[in-house]
Amino acid sequence: MYPFRQGSFAIRNGWYIAAFASEVGKEPLARNILGSPVVLYRKMDGAAVAVGGRCPHRHFPLGASRVNGDDIVCGYHGLSFGPDGQCVHVPSQNSAPRSFKIPAYPLVEYGPWLWIWPGDPEKADQDLLPNLDEIGLNDPCMTFRTLGSHLVKARYQLINDNLLDLSHLGFLHGNTIGTPENSSTPEEVRKRGNYLETRRMIRNCEAPPVLKARGYEVSRIDRDTGGGFYIPGFHTTFGDTLFPEDHEISPGQVIAKTRVYHGVTPATSTTSNYFFAVGLSDPDSFDAMVAFLGKVIEEDKFAVEEVEKMLQLVSELPSELLIKSDHAAVEGRRMLQAAMDVEATACPQGL
Ligand code: FES
Ligand SMILES: [Fe+2]
Repeated sequence: MYPFRQGSFAIRNGWYIAAFASEVGKEPLARNILGSPVVLYRKMDGAAVAVGGRCPHRHFPLGASRVNGDDIVCGYHGLSFGPDGQCVHVPSQNSAPRSFKIPAYPLVEYGPWLWIWPGDPEKADQDLLPNLDEIGLNDPCMTFRTLGSHLVKARYQLINDNLLDLSHLGFLHGNTIGTPENSSTPEEVRKRGNYLETRRMIRNCEAPPVLKARGYEVSRIDRDTGGGFYIPGFHTTFGDTLFPEDHEISPGQVIAKTRVYHGVTPATSTTSNYFFAVGLSDPDSFDAMVAFLGKVIEEDKFAVEEVEKMLQLVSELPSELLIKSDHAAVEGRRMLQAAMDVEATACPQGL
């Protein structure tokens, strides 16, 4: 599947964000994850669980059913399934055969997110989750907020491509967070195992509109910007605003810091779950920033959804033009394809 090899969809053995922890309670929450319906809810002890979202009796959605104690009870004919996926009750008969079951997925509450492992449960290793210190989530100088989960009508790699090529900031987000220097400044790209990092140090550029909205009357600034991609579906992007090095009073001093966390989880082959959270060094500007970032999310959503429409319109895609700023996106695609190839070799039928 574009832009991957025919037959490659997504890495299965990896942690993906299924939901913000705050979204899941005693009511079932339905979500498609890597082409499968999943339902999330909390047990009596508060622990969150993820099980298959399709009742194996007549395919009724368990997301439209109800939770009873630790079990989920199908809203059609009342079959009950435990958090391990095992059917525990069939109202119309005395016993629930052992063969009646739905999938149960490893699920971990970590940071403000619930992370799901859609692949082989035996391989679910919590050490593979992004380190919260490393991504800055435990930084006492920053305040964090979640900005909701979004269903995007575009395949997940279009969002990964978007986040790995921040040269789009000056164009798609030219009225909000970007300036032309987001494209013209050379970018450093570094790879470390399953992690890919990009960085641009922009010198003495005009302040983008967002800085004024955040309450800073500064005309020229330095910007330290970039991001990190944790395979298979988590990105951090950062933007530090500094006084330019030739500033008379505070050369090089940090004015404001921003950290954005993006969870990108394939929903179906052409739709994606997108989870957005933000951290700021100046919590007083949160309301202004939330309004601004709401526009930025809509702009990105617009771009990838329009590209998805174009992909579906054209039966045979000609090769894409490759430009310098594609470096990280191309590397990210290579990393994902290599991991998918390893999974296909280990388990050719899929899991
Ligand atoms: S469809 Fe679920 S019990 Fe019948
Ligand atoms: Fe963007």
